[in-house]
Amino acid sequence: MNALDFRRRKNDGKKISMTTCYDYWSARILSDTAIDAIIVGDSAAMVMHGHPSTLPATTDLMVLHTEAVARGAPEKFLIADMPFLSFRKGLKPAMDTVEALIHAGANAVKLEGIDGIEDVVERIVLAGVPVMGHLGLTPQAVNRLGGFKLQGVSKESAAQLTDQAKRVVDAGCFSMVLECVPIDTARQITATVSIPTIGIGAGPHCDGQVLVLHDLVGFNRDFQPKFVKAYEDGFDLVQRAVNAFDRETKEGSFPTDAQTYG
Ligand code: KIV
Repeated sequence: MNALDFRRRKNDGKKISMTTCYDYWSARILSDTAIDAIIVGDSAAMVMHGHPSTLPATTDLMVLHTEAVARGAPEKFLIADMPFLSFRKGLKPAMDTVEALIHAGANAVKLEGIDGIEDVVERIVLAGVPVMGHLGLTPQAVNRLGGFKLQGVSKESAAQLTDQAKRVVDAGCFSMVLECVPIDTARQITATVSIPTIGIGAGPHCDGQVLVLHDLVGFNRDFQPKFVKAYEDGFDLVQRAVNAFDRETKEGSFPTDAQTYG
């Protein structure tokens, strides 16, 4: 999979699957799956570091996670998030962040929003770096949005979102994430734009879907919004394994000869 394949998939009517990843051993697992692309999301700040939002993510943090994922899944198409404000302080800091993420092993970067940053996106694309857009619920704007809420609900905000989506295309993005958008709004945007939409909480009509890895394997017991489907109970799986080890250690049935050197 590469940046051009995204548009090919849309043209062929074939869906795109993506998930997040933040560390080496998860990347090793994902590298042997059929998943099309991996995103090192700034959600790492929440999922891996326990922050209440993505705002504490920094370029250094994103670089650290991107390097680990790139080492674990070198053959997967890897998109890295540009963190809060890193692309809103002028072209030089934005380009420095792009440079750091690409040197860390990313194949593309993702930026939230489009208002006021069209020129930055264009310059990154001109520099040869594929850019993924991100509209709808843009978590870096959580304070302005008044929380992690569904976007594009009213007629006016749906129209505004459609306009933003067109500008994401015009700026040269190869695809865009649509997060927490009603089904009809997402369907309309998907039908309007020439690049694939990757939905998360945006219904089935997007050109692809992305879920946070920890949500889809059921590690996040405390976070179960409507759009998440946990395909396994990973939380329970880990607890059962650790409790079995604890029990066997305490009763003396581990290790046996099989785990003991002669
Ligand atoms: O940060 C993140 O994990 C994301 C994905 C939901 C696409 O932006």
